Amino acid sequence: MSKADAAQADSFATLLTKIEDGTAVCGVVGLGYVGLPLGVEMARRGFHVIGYDVSQPVVDSLNEGRSHIQDVSDVMLGEARASGGLEATTDAARLAECDVISICVPTPLGKTRDPDVSYVVAATKAVSEVLRHGQLIILESTTYPGTTREVLLPAFEQRGLEVGRDFFLCFSPERVDPGNERWQIHNTPKVIGGITRRCVEAGVAIYSRVMEQVVPVSSPEAAELAKLLENTFRAVNIALVNEMAQASDRLGVDVFEVIEAAATKPFGFMKFTPGPGIGGHCIPLDPHYLAWKMKTLNYRTRMIDLAGEINSEMPRFVVEKVRDALNDRGKALKGSRVLLIGVAYKKDIDDMRESPALDVMKLLEEKGATVLYHDPYVPVVREDGHSWTSLPFTPETLASADCVVITTDHSDVRYEELVDLPVPVVDTRNALKGKDGLNIIGLSGAGARAVVDRAAVPA
Ligand SMILES: NC(=O)c1ccc[n+]([C@@H]2O[C@H](COP(=O)([O-])OP(=O)(O)OC[C@H]3O[C@@H](n4cnc5c(N)ncnc54)[C@H](O)[C@@H]3O)[C@@H](O)[C@H]2O)c1
Repeated sequence: MSKADAAQADSFATLLTKIEDGTAVCGVVGLGYVGLPLGVEMARRGFHVIGYDVSQPVVDSLNEGRSHIQDVSDVMLGEARASGGLEATTDAARLAECDVISICVPTPLGKTRDPDVSYVVAATKAVSEVLRHGQLIILESTTYPGTTREVLLPAFEQRGLEVGRDFFLCFSPERVDPGNERWQIHNTPKVIGGITRRCVEAGVAIYSRVMEQVVPVSSPEAAELAKLLENTFRAVNIALVNEMAQASDRLGVDVFEVIEAAATKPFGFMKFTPGPGIGGHCIPLDPHYLAWKMKTLNYRTRMIDLAGEINSEMPRFVVEKVRDALNDRGKALKGSRVLLIGVAYKKDIDDMRESPALDVMKLLEEKGATVLYHDPYVPVVREDGHSWTSLPFTPETLASADCVVITTDHSDVRYEELVDLPVPVVDTRNALKGKDGLNIIGLSGAGARAVVDRAAVPA
């Protein structure tokens, strides 16, 4: 065996042995919505986990047993810490102790809607400074195809180590769905692609100790693109039902009734629901990573562009509904008090990132309305120098509004109290499904229970 072959066998065999016997130390870079649940799950599986984050408050609170992520309770965090499992640090040098390092840092868009990979670059730099033989690095952050090979790999190779022989590099997209109790890290299949065959073998070895199903693919690019396909699929299908909502509105038909009816087809249809727009850290942003990459290859991703256009029109469509509802009752939007119920981007979570409710709030204020809101998960909203505080869900709060808008359908709101309000209630989420009230206005149709003009039907 040549010296190089022996080194390759050594680093790889040592890493696999440590993974198999549970002595591999796992590092997680970025302890947010993605990194913290991953670190906790690895600790639950018996690995020692070193979580590295640049935020001192995040690290301090985790080391004191307080989780800042809704999906990780303090009890779960406590168990992970008690099993000897998890510690948090702001000291990047501690990554040298790790055999496996999963990078879970943000990948936002810049001001011009282009990918901002500066966090990935910073994390790569931190890891490259400690890179050593036998380490496996897995990028988890959603990004454009080519990032792992074009951004991480050259930085690591500059250390004089060879990928697939001395160290191992993979991309494995995170599929966390905040607030989803059925599908969590351990039971959601995990796609992984490596730069070399040994890279993916090492990736499969660690993640199959943590997740029930690992799905290897032939390259990091395939794994990167799989994640973008998943989220683009959602963005495009949500745009389709949002377009249906606008079409149904002009037809005087309740779009939710139409979707329920279509969803009874047992094959060839998948249900998506319309609403005031799309939010969260993934669906509104990720497709732009692909669109940007394709632009560099002289290809325009038309479906992505159109879906983004339709979805971003929805807040304005909702504000027009509010304006028309007030107008029908002889009131102007300007000077009216509009109460939003639910401002998080989706039900039962506290995540405000890219929430369409923010656009609805800003558009209403631009038109001269006073915006109030109630959200059991979001005590304060701060945006562009504005600040709003959640009001209690009381008869006084409801009585103070000229119009109510259900922007997020959180489960623990007493919707029945909205049914007989004397003011219009614009229900963008079908939260009042099945409830009859004179002032209920659905996302489409004259009301949630719009009736087609029978006189217009040919005999
Ligand atoms: N939130 C989701 O639902 C979700 C789902 C799937 C994939 N993703 C993807 O996962 C990635 C992470 O998203 P998130 O929601 O966990 O973000 P987040 O903002 O919740 O957490 C990121 C953490 O990384 C830390 N950080 C930033 N730069 C760092 C650095 N250089 N070194 C160490 N720590 C650093 C931040 O302080 C923060 O605590 C993104 O690419 C995102 O697109 C997110």
